[in-house]
Amino acid sequence: MGNMTKEKTIDFGFKTVKASEKAGHVREVFDSVAAKYDVMNDAMSMGIHRVWKNMAMAKINPQPGEVLIDVAGGTGDLSRRFITAAEKVLLRRGGVPAKAYVCDINAEMLLAGVDEVKDNGLDLTRVCGDAQTLPFPDNFADVITISFGIRNVTDRDMALADFHRVLKPGGRFYCLEFTTPPTEWLRKFYDAYSFAVIPRLGGILTGDRDSYQYLVESIRKFPKQEKFAGMLKSAKFRRVNYQDYSGGICALHWGWKV
Ligand SMILES: C[S@@+](CC[C@H](N)C(=O)[O-])C[C@H]1O[C@@H](n2cnc3c(N)ncnc32)[C@H](O)[C@@H]1O
Repeated sequence: MGNMTKEKTIDFGFKTVKASEKAGHVREVFDSVAAKYDVMNDAMSMGIHRVWKNMAMAKINPQPGEVLIDVAGGTGDLSRRFITAAEKVLLRRGGVPAKAYVCDINAEMLLAGVDEVKDNGLDLTRVCGDAQTLPFPDNFADVITISFGIRNVTDRDMALADFHRVLKPGGRFYCLEFTTPPTEWLRKFYDAYSFAVIPRLGGILTGDRDSYQYLVESIRKFPKQEKFAGMLKSAKFRRVNYQDYSGGICALHWGWKV
């Protein structure tokens, strides 16, 4: 008799793949786009991702001496913002510099972010690791962030539970992610823009249209804001809330480990 156990499946954009294979497909996407990732990010969002990241940073309010782990941190821009923001507070009030770890499953993305000029003077360490099983001890970080990364993770509940484990008591978690705008006209405009323009732009700038097709599809498959907030609560985060950016094209979710 054949093996009747059916392997779990999961979405990979609009396709369905074996859960055990999703991470490999995601890796192919980011291996392929790593070298042009920052340029493409600016092009497809018309620079707006920088505004969203700055808004997120204002909410995070980094302090001197704090330790950040930026999960799925890619080329490290959020980590640099964190240390620089804490530095401004340090100049006014004193203290020790903040430290950041950029943790990403993909070494190509980490390497693409190495920049001697931008990294100069910053206490920034790059670590290869999976969001589901972070290579950090319990109660280690003051802040954990994940920006445009959680939708690529195979088991998001497992990742959220691990973020909770690694945060210190009193630590805070922030997730910046594309979402579905609640307003119908904006949703239609956004759909038209993202499906017609982004894969084409990706094809021109990186030579890899398929990876950007995956990116826009994966956004549509991501849970709506309320549902994702519920997932944070199930992972034992408290004071969970979210704020829509740009009419809900993007949202910042947060929760505290208490
Ligand atoms: C869209 S990029 C976001 C990069 C950066 N955080 C930003 O905001 O620009 C998604 C990143 O998630 C990483 N990634 C995907 N799955 C991951 C996982 N399971 N664990 C850690 N990183 C992962 C990819 O390698 C990629 O660098």
